[in-house]
This record gives sequence, C-alpha cells and structure tokens, in this order.
Amino acid sequence: MSFYQRRERLLRDAAADQFEDWYRRSKGEWFDWRERLLFLRAVERCVNAKVAGGSGRTCRDREVWKILDVGAGTGRIACEVARVGLGQAQTSVVALDFSHRSLLVIQRKSAGVLVCEADAARGLPFADGSFGLIVCCQVVQHLVLEDRLRALTECRRVLRDDGWLFLSVYNGHYWRSQGIQEESLGGLYARRFRLPDLKYMASESGFSVERVEPYKHMPARLGNLIGSGLAVRLDGLFAKLPLLRMRTGAYLFVALRPATRRVNRGHLEAAASDASCTSEH
Ligand SMILES: C[S@@+](CC[C@H](N)C(=O)[O-])C[C@H]1O[C@@H](n2cnc3c(N)ncnc32)[C@H](O)[C@@H]1O
Repeated sequence: MSFYQRRERLLRDAAADQFEDWYRRSKGEWFDWRERLLFLRAVERCVNAKVAGGSGRTCRDREVWKILDVGAGTGRIACEVARVGLGQAQTSVVALDFSHRSLLVIQRKSAGVLVCEADAARGLPFADGSFGLIVCCQVVQHLVLEDRLRALTECRRVLRDDGWLFLSVYNGHYWRSQGIQEESLGGLYARRFRLPDLKYMASESGFSVERVEPYKHMPARLGNLIGSGLAVRLDGLFAKLPLLRMRTGAYLFVALRPATRRVNRGHLEAAASDASCTSEH
C-alpha cells in the first residue's frame, strides 16, 4: 500500500465518527444532498431502464439488485440506497472500505447494508460478475494511477457485463483548479480529471464513458442563504449550461459501462488479494 493510502486509512479511521458532520459543514448540506441524489437517481434510472442489448428485459426482472459501494466511507450513499430501496426491485447493498472504523459506523447506522473490509487497489473479494451496479463516490481521485487502474479493473471484473459503474471525481476543467492536476490535499493524494483522463482511465480498465455531469457549481454556504432545496435545483440548472458547465462544476459525476473489449488484467498481476470480508456476501 502506498504512503498516501496508508495515511488515508489512518485519517479515515480517526475521523470516522465525525466524518458526515465534517462533510456537511465543510462542503455544505445542499451539496451532500445533491451528491446523494445524483447517485440515487442514476441507480434508479438504471434499475428502471431497459437492459441494453435489445433483450427487451427490464432491470426489474432481476430477482435481486446487487449493489457494491466501493470506498463507502461511513455509508452516505450505501445507506441511502438501502434506506430508499429501488421501487419494486429487491436490493442487496455491500459497502466496502479499507477503514475499519468507517465500516463500524455503517453497521451502527444501517442493518440493511453488508460491510466488507478490503483494499480496493489490492483486489475485490468477490466472484466475477457478482454485481449489477457499482457506485464509487469521491474515491478514485485519492488513488495514484497504478492503484486507480487496479481498483477499476477489479470493479469491471466483479461487475456484470450489462452493469453500470457510477463514479464521482474532482473536475480538472473547474476554473479554480488552475491547471493543477495532481497535488497533496491535507496530506492526501488528490487528482483532478479532465475528459481525456476519464476516457483513458475507463478504457484501460475495461469501461467506456457513457455520461459525465458536472456538479457543485456554487459555494458551500449558499444553501444557508437560499435554502438547500433551492440550491440543489439551481445546481442542477447550472449543470445544463452549455460551454460554462464544465468550468463551473467542482466535481464530475461519471457513468461507465463495461466495454466490449476484454479487461486488461495486467494491472492485477502485481496485486495480491489480501482482502477480508467482515460480512459474508
Ligand atoms: C472521500 S471518502 C468518500 C466516502 C464515501 N464514498 C462518501 O462519499 O461519503 C473516500 C473513502 O474511500 C476509502 N478508500 C480510499 N482508498 C481506498 C482503497 N484503496 N480501498 C478501499 N477504500 C478506500 C477511504 O477510506 C474513504 O472512506
């Protein structure tokens, strides 16, 4: 494990009990809400949509929707998906993280989420094609290139061929990033992504980029002034502005689909899978 990753795991463990409060305070409650909505709606859309490939089968036809949250932290997304459910579809949500204490928070919050302690960059402890959907919110920007490609290649392996992977990352086109693509943020490695970076990362790990939506166009404190509901709606409007939208959004929501080309397993060769699950899946 890299120096940055060891440090990240220590920090996440130390901050687990306050993580969500800190997140809302530093990024804004409306932002937290908007981000969770983006993931939830994308998951819902996918579950309600026809399966690609012209089979005519709907996603609802599947018995249980198996969803994996990679780098779940204290479960902002995983617990929300498990809480809201997905219409008539049955769901099983697994939250994976390498921070033990973050997973303890999830277990306290939601009995409906299975937790799995593992380092995503060292391999995911699941069989091929185990999940129909994978979500990964604000994680891959903290992985150096080699770890990032390994983690995503593993996501591809455990995802069904007709599945989806939803990511969110720092936006490298954001006006305030001033062309800086890589830096150390509070001791954590951080990477900002431009569209060509996303395409490269996707194709190297066996995916293609289907949709990119910028978000967080406004300052965190705006929600206090105009109310979170309005701030979320305004942010959604900004996300549609042609030309400006990629410059004003601090983050990118990215939807990936498995590419037809086979996965490049080379990234995995060096990875020893030493992951362990604290809940059976
Ligand atoms: C910024 S937090 C995001 C947490 C959560 N997805 C959310 O949006 O609230 C990044 C999370 O990724 C986890 N993480 C980072 N690298 C990881 C790795 N290699 N394997 C598993 N988890 C990792 C960290 O422990 C942390 O909980």
